[in-house]
Amino acid sequence: MAEIFNHDWQRTKLCGRFDESDAGKEVRANGWVRARRDLGGIIFIEVWDWTGPIQIVFNPEAGEIHNLAATLRNEYCIAVKGRMRIRPEGTDNPELKTGNIEIVASDFMILSKAKHPPFMIGDETDSVDENLRLKYRYLDLRREKMQKNLRTRAKINAFTRNYLGEREFIELDTPMLTKATPEGARDYLVPSRVNQGCFYALPQSPQLFKQILMVSGFDKYYQIARCFRDEDLRADRQPEFTQVDIEMSYIVEDDIMNLIEGYMKGLFKEIRGVDIPTPFMRMPYWDAMDKYGSDKPDLRVKLELCDLADAFRNSGFEPFRRILEAGGVVRGLRLPGGAAMSRKEIMDLEARAIKLGTSGLANFLYKDGGLKGPLIKFLKPEEVDKVRELGAMEPDDALFIVANESRQKACEILGTLRLELGRARKDLFDDSPDNWKFLWVTEFPLFEWSAEEKRWEAMHHPFTSPALDNATPFDEDPEHALARAYDCVLNGNEVGGGSIRIHDPNVQARLFKCLGITPEEAKRRFGFFIDALSYGTPPHGGLALGVDRLVMLLCEGNSIRDVMAFPKTQKAQCLMSGAPDVVEQERLDELAIQVVKDEE
Ligand code: AMO
Repeated sequence: MAEIFNHDWQRTKLCGRFDESDAGKEVRANGWVRARRDLGGIIFIEVWDWTGPIQIVFNPEAGEIHNLAATLRNEYCIAVKGRMRIRPEGTDNPELKTGNIEIVASDFMILSKAKHPPFMIGDETDSVDENLRLKYRYLDLRREKMQKNLRTRAKINAFTRNYLGEREFIELDTPMLTKATPEGARDYLVPSRVNQGCFYALPQSPQLFKQILMVSGFDKYYQIARCFRDEDLRADRQPEFTQVDIEMSYIVEDDIMNLIEGYMKGLFKEIRGVDIPTPFMRMPYWDAMDKYGSDKPDLRVKLELCDLADAFRNSGFEPFRRILEAGGVVRGLRLPGGAAMSRKEIMDLEARAIKLGTSGLANFLYKDGGLKGPLIKFLKPEEVDKVRELGAMEPDDALFIVANESRQKACEILGTLRLELGRARKDLFDDSPDNWKFLWVTEFPLFEWSAEEKRWEAMHHPFTSPALDNATPFDEDPEHALARAYDCVLNGNEVGGGSIRIHDPNVQARLFKCLGITPEEAKRRFGFFIDALSYGTPPHGGLALGVDRLVMLLCEGNSIRDVMAFPKTQKAQCLMSGAPDVVEQERLDELAIQVVKDEE
């Protein structure tokens, strides 16, 4: 047995790349042991790497190495030498790429032993508690599926660099230790030792820097940029995530959209082998809300919302009439075949709607030749007909109704029910693997009202240009002002968002004013940026794609954690390294930081 790993032990090929043409040759394999079987004195193991397994055979005649092979356990890392052969008839495994060959070992070496792993490393590992997988992420990442996902991720990054590089985009890094860039989340702060009491913010995005690069003349910029946002986490959100961040000068919306459509077309061809149709559908924000109850509609779900105002405006059903008189809305969701739902199912659905923030969920069921439901007694026959007509109801359908003072709220609640009801039914939801439904959502409102802060907030970010054709100047009618913003939506996911920017410092100042940012505050927070805008700024715009979401969709993952090497938990912790962690008092003293613990 050799003592050290050297060229003599180095693999001749990756395990899964051996094939029949290697039969008869002396070969070497390196990898992890899995699936040891002892059959009548002969020991079989599989040695794995990311390309798959190769079977190794230890015959009893091999003496010492046969005895040593009997001590092998899963996840031992080994090097094997031997002669490749075609497996004896009847012993091949057609499910494996290398299922018709095996190496008859002549020598081998244990490179390192492994403790008994906390879970079996195979694709069934998906069902293991995710926290355990995250704690032992290095083992989880050894799995074929995780290897495949992360290798696809790297391929996507390579495609991105090629695609943008070929089009004269320049890849530039912007700082990680910087000043706050508002994107609607909290900042992660980093204390400065040499400037005590001062903090850097980790970037929520490179927004300000990429716009400044336009001022500097890098007229086509991109970066595969890490962004940091301290916000509530979900399956599609991480505190640290990656964007393909893009900015271009002398452009309008179409230029960005064409660029991204070409990118997606090429990417989906390369990764999935499919031709996705371009150009993508475009839909104004309010159309998407009214029709699908979402600004990122999943067009694979075959359900749409409807407007029932005309049926209730003059009706005897007071509550709805009053909501309409006060400027609210009455919206419905038709569910084909829904009349067959049980009382309990309907009550559960109403409970769900109430949880989403409405006071109730009215319903009509089309059965026994007409509409039935608790509201019928308040309506004239022609109003019932109107409900049926506006709801496009057919026999056996159900219609669920939300009335609310807020159009947005009513739409969002029904939009959530639309997804939940639709995705549960095969006939209403085509989730076949390569059914990609892209769209651009456009004409976003410029502002949204923050009830908490009692002021307008930028819906995208405060550097987004107001639409050119707003009926009234944006600062005179903020409620109705539209933005030159666009989101790229894929199967119900916002995979990218961007806008044409404000390039005139005066417009930027007016916009800050709308947001309740005083000139002093604007100067303190964004002075450098506003200054930069006043040195001959080209008109410009851009977008950022969420790399993690895009990779997740391309890999058919359920969560962006499936496509990130070391993601964090819902509580923003890394279970493997134990971050975030307390630090020594000395370090805090250097930073002039005192930690005051909450008594609770
Ligand atoms: P936005 O905030 O829309 O725009 O972000 C762009 C894209 O980044 C992805 N994304 C996230 N992915 C994972 N975890 C998160 N927490 C997370 N937050 C956002 C989404 C989103 O579409 N500076 C602007 C872009 C621009 O205007 O050019 C920006 O950051 O897929």
